[in-house]
Amino acid sequence: MPKTIIVTGGSGQLGQSLRGLVGSEVGCQYLFPSREQLDLTDSVSIDAFFEEKTFDIIINCAAHTAVDQAESEPELADQVNHLAVKKLAKIASSRQVRFIHISTDYVFNGENFKPYIESDKVAPQGVYGLSKLRGEQVVQSLMPNNALIIRTSWVYSAFGNNFVKTMLKLASQRDELNVIYDQVGTPTYAADLAQAIIQIAQSDGFNNNTFKTELYHYSNEGVCSWYDFAITIFELSGVSCQVLPIETKDYPTPAKRPHYSVLNKAKIKQAYGIQISYWKEALQRCLQALEDNHS
Ligand SMILES: NC(=O)c1ccc[n+]([C@@H]2O[C@H](COP(=O)([O-])OP(=O)(O)OC[C@H]3O[C@@H](n4cnc5c(N)ncnc54)[C@H](OP(=O)(O)O)[C@@H]3O)[C@@H](O)[C@H]2O)c1
Repeated sequence: MPKTIIVTGGSGQLGQSLRGLVGSEVGCQYLFPSREQLDLTDSVSIDAFFEEKTFDIIINCAAHTAVDQAESEPELADQVNHLAVKKLAKIASSRQVRFIHISTDYVFNGENFKPYIESDKVAPQGVYGLSKLRGEQVVQSLMPNNALIIRTSWVYSAFGNNFVKTMLKLASQRDELNVIYDQVGTPTYAADLAQAIIQIAQSDGFNNNTFKTELYHYSNEGVCSWYDFAITIFELSGVSCQVLPIETKDYPTPAKRPHYSVLNKAKIKQAYGIQISYWKEALQRCLQALEDNHS
């Protein structure tokens, strides 16, 4: 039977990456409502949008992702990352449809010394992480069945603002850049995460009548610091810019960030047979996409 999938946050990095992949899928219709059509800070707008639609899955890629800004606007972060998620989960539950929700490595405090598994203790360090954790928890409590939450980390793509695009822009203006080396994680190419989400949404397991709500981790493979990430961006794109390692304390930001946020992906790989690329290989594909967009 044909499926209708509604994707929130369609103008964001992950939303646009999904858009880029879904065109040729047979038997699936994807809707990408704009913020004007579906404003997640406005519960009347949310009800009005979903009331008139028939659909099978909601994929929530929308979020208040400005981590530093969230520190000074906690109500807005909570509204989008928690209360709107509660509303979407209630709708999904009452309409008996499935819900895929995206969360973050920032639910952890970054004090681990080995990759985080899904059941590790959560302890967000800032407003953004806390609002995202509340979003996860509300999905789990309202939807014991039919929901899937994916925590991801360090998302970049050819779209929007992200570390890769910022580094390339700064390198065009300066010969030397200071980049933090004492925060370690794994970058995630949004196109790879989008592909994994589609694979899950189409899988028999996810569409099984007895699907129990689960939490998963997804990023690309491997581990690096922001410093390593920057050096690799310049190496792979043939840009000459010297990168100097600095410590977090030398680059103060309003929001505290985890020193370690590597995610263990064994659970999602095993459950859905997902193959994950090494982060440098994924980065190479993103750089190619950026180059293709400019030529
Ligand atoms: N970016 C990262 O490094 C990162 C890391 C870990 C986890 N994540 C998670 O991954 C998911 C996707 O992130 P992303 O990088 O694709 O985010 P993004 O590029 O910042 O996009 C966020 C999307 O949410 C939409 N949005 C924000 N407020 C809204 C509102 N009130 N009503 C409707 N839409 C609203 C934005 O719409 P506008 O374009 O209109 O603003 C945009 O489409 C999020 O759940 C995020 O928390 C991201």
